[in-house]
Amino acid sequence: MPDPAAQPHLFVVFGATGDLMQRKLLPALFHLHQQGKFPAGSLILGVARHPFDDASFRGSAASSLVGEKAGPEDAIRAFCDQTLFYQGLAAGGPETYPGLRTRIEQVEAAHGLSGNRIFYLALPLEAFGPTLQGLGTAGLNHGPGWTRVVVEKPFGRDLASAEALNALAHTYFQEKQLYRIDHYLGKETVQNLLVFRFANAFVESDWNRDRVEKVEITVAESLGVEGRANYYETSGALRDMIQNHVTQVLTLVAMEPPAHRTEDEIRDEKVKVLRSIRRIEPGDVVRGQYTRGTVDGVSVPGYREETGVAPDSDTETYLALRLKIPNWRWKDVPFFVRTGKRLPAKSSQVVLTFRAPPVSFFQSESEYELSPDRVTILLQPDEGFEIAFEIKVPGREMRVQTHRMKFHYSDVFGVLPDGYEALIQDVMLGDANLFVRADEVEESWRLYTPILDHPPPVVFYPAGSDGPAAAKRLVEEWGHRWNPE
Ligand code: BG6
Repeated sequence: MPDPAAQPHLFVVFGATGDLMQRKLLPALFHLHQQGKFPAGSLILGVARHPFDDASFRGSAASSLVGEKAGPEDAIRAFCDQTLFYQGLAAGGPETYPGLRTRIEQVEAAHGLSGNRIFYLALPLEAFGPTLQGLGTAGLNHGPGWTRVVVEKPFGRDLASAEALNALAHTYFQEKQLYRIDHYLGKETVQNLLVFRFANAFVESDWNRDRVEKVEITVAESLGVEGRANYYETSGALRDMIQNHVTQVLTLVAMEPPAHRTEDEIRDEKVKVLRSIRRIEPGDVVRGQYTRGTVDGVSVPGYREETGVAPDSDTETYLALRLKIPNWRWKDVPFFVRTGKRLPAKSSQVVLTFRAPPVSFFQSESEYELSPDRVTILLQPDEGFEIAFEIKVPGREMRVQTHRMKFHYSDVFGVLPDGYEALIQDVMLGDANLFVRADEVEESWRLYTPILDHPPPVVFYPAGSDGPAAAKRLVEEWGHRWNPE
């Protein structure tokens, strides 16, 4: 059912012919439309440099949705014909924005829209500033209704550029108009971190330095750079995954409960975590790069052999780091974090390992092989969680074994929707809870500045392996092992 608070609007997408639009935004908009969650009367205006008109844009969008198997073909065609419009930005320079404004006003007037607007910047980083400026100088920063701007990642490439981008954005827009998107926050399992922790008293009472021995966050991918070398060469795993997605997961795992579930109170708590993290030194980091290898039985080239990658590229495709959060809750609990491409499988999880009981009355190792209790939150795929705990093996002898209790979303809820659907819906409703605030993005960049300034040299790992051996040593030096290894 449509949410009563969702108002009709014009949804303007910059970068309407790009990969993100095709793979994520269009399918999400189509599904919202199908479910009646796209407010009645709302329209979509695609904006890009390509010389499409409305008809050819609709045709191209329909073929891509059919190709993505987003739904029945007649429904796709109807959606495209009824909701999509296109405006070419020939030069893309500032002089093009008055023309865009005229077109927006024409479409709105012709279809009875009252001037509520969402501008979605599905663009590369270097285009964010000029687009925000173009919208601002053309007077599109405030319309007859509300105006909201969604900015994709990466928001900056270091602290200085993020600060400059925030300053530019704030010249034209108020912070409450800005929705910095991190699609990990749209994932049900990432949102569930707060529910798992704060709606289950027994979980939260153990979620601290008295009970937890270590925290591990792994975001592994089997894919390589998949034709995105131009972007990835200037990014690497730190900018592509750690500074945003993985850091979001980390702050949700480590934050204190907010007094209320308001957007500012949750984001305040996340910022406090970022401020509490001890300075990360280059020695706390392993940067890896994949070489030729085999993934899923298929041999794949090394990163330096990928099209568009420099043969001596220093870009990391893997990053592991260890950190400490010396605050009241987490002092002395190590946090180990890793992400990488061309690992054996796609698997993202958070593992909390609990301290062993202080005293054991089991006499011998054959009775009780020490295996600490563990909570594994499976972010994706196969979303859910597992709790590993000890049970007595039935029989006269006292033998103890580890067992896993599992919960999988798919058993109860079927297939989970793509995170973009939830996030786009939130923008339509004006709910910024799951978007990244200006100070949050800056604190996150501040945290990683020492590594960006002094990156340790890359070490190599074969595609399809578990990553570089140095990542094992990183954890072993602090007396631990990765789980799973
Ligand atoms: C994107 C990164 O933000 O997230 C990609 O740019 C990465 O490199 C992707 O593959 C991972 O997203 P997901 O949802 O598949 O885990």
